[in-house]
Amino acid sequence: MRELMQALREASVRAILEAEDAERLENLRVKYLGKKGELTAILRQMGKLSAEERPAMGQLANQLRAEIESAIDKRKTELTAIMMEKKLEAETLDVTLPGIEPRLGHKHPMYNVLDQIKDIFIGMGFEIVDGPEVELADYNFTKLNIDEGHPSREWTDTFYFTEDSQILLRTQTSPMQIHAMETRPLPIRIIAPGRVYRKDEVDATHSPMFHQIEGMVIDKGVTMADLKATLNLVVEKIYGKGTVTRFRPHHFPFTEPSCELDIQCHKCGGKGCPTCKGEGWIEVLGAGMVHPKVLSGCGIDPDVYSGWAFGMGLERLAMGEYKITDLRLIFENDVRFLEQF
Ligand code: PHE
Repeated sequence: MRELMQALREASVRAILEAEDAERLENLRVKYLGKKGELTAILRQMGKLSAEERPAMGQLANQLRAEIESAIDKRKTELTAIMMEKKLEAETLDVTLPGIEPRLGHKHPMYNVLDQIKDIFIGMGFEIVDGPEVELADYNFTKLNIDEGHPSREWTDTFYFTEDSQILLRTQTSPMQIHAMETRPLPIRIIAPGRVYRKDEVDATHSPMFHQIEGMVIDKGVTMADLKATLNLVVEKIYGKGTVTRFRPHHFPFTEPSCELDIQCHKCGGKGCPTCKGEGWIEVLGAGMVHPKVLSGCGIDPDVYSGWAFGMGLERLAMGEYKITDLRLIFENDVRFLEQF
């Protein structure tokens, strides 16, 4: 029996020292000390011993139980320490590692161009105003002398919100002329940049949403000469000194007379090339003298006051300036594209 206990002592101590986690350790405790465990099995044989031998064996068995228990406790403490160390190691934060740099956005090329234009007009005493993209047909059309039945009022061209065609997404920034005349004291010098909407299919030069800049001056004694001088100055600031312009007669219901402003192609000098599509000229904006009917509709006496206005497409300007050939690139906001500017 002594030998059996000695064997159990050696086997159990070795197994306990080798146990690698708490679960295995608990299994060992059951295996050696449990009710059906190995020590209990040895003690069952006590009956075979003589009465003199029994107390000594009992004492040895108790001692062995205590030894195994303390070996288990010791190993348990060790395991806890090892686990903690592993956990700490796994969760270590290496403060010397370089961080992940957040990717910053990039100023949109079209807004670079817009800022440039704002600066030019602010320098000439204009104010920058903002207005609604959801408009009344009254402001987008009627007060601009665009009658019922005009093709631009068709449902195929304009996004309407209501069956009665009264509320819509503005198709141009020109309603800002009306808002300015109705709310601002005279004289007026404003530009109004913003989004406009038309039912156009998306392609390399069209989008159902794009940007315009409206400009308007109302004062006493304003003439077409002011319009031409001011716009020539703006063109020179954008495209460089000596840029040749041409004011071509046109028609807009809300200006009279009306014109379109072209610049001579800076690429070919007017001979015709892919940039100007063989025309020699590039269209920049629409403009004209504010129609007397529009002035009086806003409560301004056309015999005392006169003014001029223009409307210009912002995307096209940015595309020209940055040699962007597809309009869709402007709206996709791919950082790889934007970062080139
Ligand atoms: N609103 C016109 C357009 O969208 C442009 C324009 C504005 C023309 C102001 C004359 C005066 O085409």
